[in-house]
Amino acid sequence: MQYFWDWAVRPLLRTRGVKRLLEIGASQGGNTDRILTAFPSLSLSVVDPCLDVDLTAKYRDVPAVTVYPGRSLEMLPQLRSTYDAILIDGDHNYYTVFNELRLIAQGGLLAPGGMILFHDVGEPWAFKDMYYEPERIPEESKSPHAPHGVLTAVEAFRRQFPTNWVWMRWRDEHGLGCLFDPRSRWERLALGFKSILWQGIRWRNRLGRWTGLMPSDVIRWGRNLESGGQPCSRSPKDAV
Ligand SMILES: C[S@@+](CC[C@H](N)C(=O)[O-])C[C@H]1O[C@@H](n2cnc3c(N)ncnc32)[C@H](O)[C@@H]1O
Repeated sequence: MQYFWDWAVRPLLRTRGVKRLLEIGASQGGNTDRILTAFPSLSLSVVDPCLDVDLTAKYRDVPAVTVYPGRSLEMLPQLRSTYDAILIDGDHNYYTVFNELRLIAQGGLLAPGGMILFHDVGEPWAFKDMYYEPERIPEESKSPHAPHGVLTAVEAFRRQFPTNWVWMRWRDEHGLGCLFDPRSRWERLALGFKSILWQGIRWRNRLGRWTGLMPSDVIRWGRNLESGGQPCSRSPKDAV
């Protein structure tokens, strides 16, 4: 997530006035520390099985942070709060991410007007599974015929739980995805307009790439930005 902090995550947390944030997958707390430094008044809940560091000990004297030491699929049903922002960067596989989203939706964990940010919705984990603890994932979900990947999970969730949330994705550095619950009709229009604009930029940049008439940094933006969301275009068996 570090790559996205300055130009995507921090501005989004600021402009959307996030007060309560849930972080799923914190590793050694690098991202948690950045959030705390930039937003000292924010209340931060962290769900992580503490495979890398004992986060409970690390944040024992930090009142803004509540650590839920455990796996997301066990911890999310126990949460009673709502969150303005949820960062998903835990176990990067279809089974976990789809069920995290299902539990967030069914438990009403996202506050109205909130947003969910995802890391690893680009290569290599968009369509491929990674397991921190393979023995905890059902065998059938690991089969080559099961759907795999973080992006595949987001797309399946959006098909099975239709909402008016707007989806955007940056592709570089393993990918950052955002699901926004628009706060008003105007914000929805603005996000939709941005999506169309970005799609336009992609096409303009594709043309630029083909004709050689565009500066390379603009081309890079066009190549890496994607919005609006597409149905999963790969068959699950390709995604092992
Ligand atoms: C990629 S790291 C997170 C990095 C962190 N977001 C950052 O930017 O510093 C993924 C973390 O997810 C945690 N994790 C693994 N399985 C998990 C699960 N089922 N629920 C929640 N967290 C999990 C691991 O402990 C690991 O530290």
